[in-house]
Amino acid sequence: MYRSHNCGELRASHIDTEVTLSGWVQKSRDKGFIIWIDLRDRYGVTQLVFDEERTPKAVFSQAESLGREFVIQVKGTVIERASKNPNLPTGDIEVLVKELTVLNTSLLPPFTIEDQTDGGDELRMKYRYLDIRRNPVKNNLIFRHKVAQAVRNYLSSKDFIEVETPYLIKSTPEGARDFVVPSRMNEGQFYALPQSPQTFKQLLMVGGMDKYFQIVKCFRDEDLRADRQPEFTQIDCEMAFVEQEDILDTFEGLTRHLLKEINGVDVAKFPRMTYDDAMRQYGNDKPDIRFGMQFGELNEVSQHKDFNVFNTAELVVGIAIPGGNSLTRKEIDQLTDWLKRPQIGALGMVYVRCNDDGSYKSSVDKFYDETDLKQWAEITKAKTGDLICVLSGNTNKVRAQLSALRMEMATRLGLRKPNEFAPLWVVDFPLLEWDEDTKRFHAIHHPFTSPKPGQLELLDTNPSEVKANAYDLVLNGNEIGGGSIRIHDRATQAIMLKHLGFTDEQAKAQFGFLMDAFEFGAPPHGGIAFGLDRLVAILGGQETIRDFIAFPKNNSGRDVMIDAPAPLDDEQLKELHLKLNI
Ligand code: AMO
Repeated sequence: MYRSHNCGELRASHIDTEVTLSGWVQKSRDKGFIIWIDLRDRYGVTQLVFDEERTPKAVFSQAESLGREFVIQVKGTVIERASKNPNLPTGDIEVLVKELTVLNTSLLPPFTIEDQTDGGDELRMKYRYLDIRRNPVKNNLIFRHKVAQAVRNYLSSKDFIEVETPYLIKSTPEGARDFVVPSRMNEGQFYALPQSPQTFKQLLMVGGMDKYFQIVKCFRDEDLRADRQPEFTQIDCEMAFVEQEDILDTFEGLTRHLLKEINGVDVAKFPRMTYDDAMRQYGNDKPDIRFGMQFGELNEVSQHKDFNVFNTAELVVGIAIPGGNSLTRKEIDQLTDWLKRPQIGALGMVYVRCNDDGSYKSSVDKFYDETDLKQWAEITKAKTGDLICVLSGNTNKVRAQLSALRMEMATRLGLRKPNEFAPLWVVDFPLLEWDEDTKRFHAIHHPFTSPKPGQLELLDTNPSEVKANAYDLVLNGNEIGGGSIRIHDRATQAIMLKHLGFTDEQAKAQFGFLMDAFEFGAPPHGGIAFGLDRLVAILGGQETIRDFIAFPKNNSGRDVMIDAPAPLDDEQLKELHLKLNI
């Protein structure tokens, strides 16, 4: 038996008990005549004591040679600690060791395995197995397990069935590039790894499964960011015989359950916002509504003077930064430079100081008087002491730029509180988006999303005006889920694919299997998928999903621990009928 107890378990009530513990040497303090060792495992830390008088001589000298991260087993007696440690659950006791076995030695770890480590990101990723021994990483993985478990329990209790779908499939268009796998047995042919199980879950509905879910890996070859990994996990769900309202209801229920179960937070009914309103008021389809700073459109009250920058702009729009009038001229200039960085790309920023005496002072005083500025303040809901920041130009660009400023200022002002949760449904997304590069429309959600009832005809006359039966779940400014009511008949799916630029042959070759299935009694259906990594990170009060993934990839999509991706040897390439032309 390696252990009778774990390292987080022993209390004063165990005093005088004979115990066996196994774990890692966290640290060792050698006073010459007495040695203390902190022994660590997943459950906690227990102090071991070796003492010249009470510990057998051979064991004592063995203890002197233990290094950090050695794996040891000890047998001994639980005794009361002379100086107790109230910060440690096991802090009332220590184990006086009689026997010691070294189960394995360890090289000196390349970074300290403590809550605060000296290891940089790359180093910690290279030795992720050591990083996982640290509390912050370990606790995140345990937290993730709890969330996944709560999801499974909740959905199972609502009659959802978890069904596995294949990973070696044909391309599913979710808007990213596919990862592909060459087929050895079918020369020149490739599988694609699923960007999501979208078509399979729809086929499960045709199969009568009715309520499906799956905690499932998805693969997308896209540019990586803090909230994106090339392989990530979805809580993928689909239901038959449902309308949008049923889906929103069910998954609001799931989200509310998680917030209660995991965070102990009660949240009222989730507000809903149309996509158009989200864009107009927050410049963003995933607004963080934990704080205000809503956009105020100023075209009408700013395009009547000689200021050409505004007069020629498609949109003039501002926000009021609470207390922003305390910023110095230099700080405002720095903010303007921040906006002008290529990542954001603003051309400049106009500002208005809302002085304590009720007067206004702007960077465009030459063109606008107090009456104008007062109107701007009313529209942006600026109060005395605020700073109004105004951007102008192309509508989409300016909205994105001002949204970036809104989020940055909220972060600086501490308004994005990690323990406050503000979920939001964003509904009525446009169905299609014009892509300048390919000169074609593409589906904003995916090609299986149905238009809002009664809007199919609009597709022919005014495609960009058609609204989709699609919705996103936003939590604290992050898109944590998205879904739609699907097309479930062949004719509509064919029209949709035609509008996306597919010829009949292409549509048949790529999605014939789905359209065929629609002809065998496909029920009306719809669903949603949550990004589990994002959900877990946000419930855990963070936004970087990497910290909640056991073995994540870095920003170049590499696993630096196993050193992947890697070249294949010639033999393997030949078997796969692949020749590299470099
Ligand atoms: P969508 O593409 O919106 O929908 O994806 C659903 C959710 O998955 C998460 N997500 C990601 N998380 C981490 N890294 C990524 N690279 C990544 N990409 C997406 C997001 C997102 O909201 N089949 C549809 C769902 C449906 O229609 O039912 C789909 O995949 O949180």
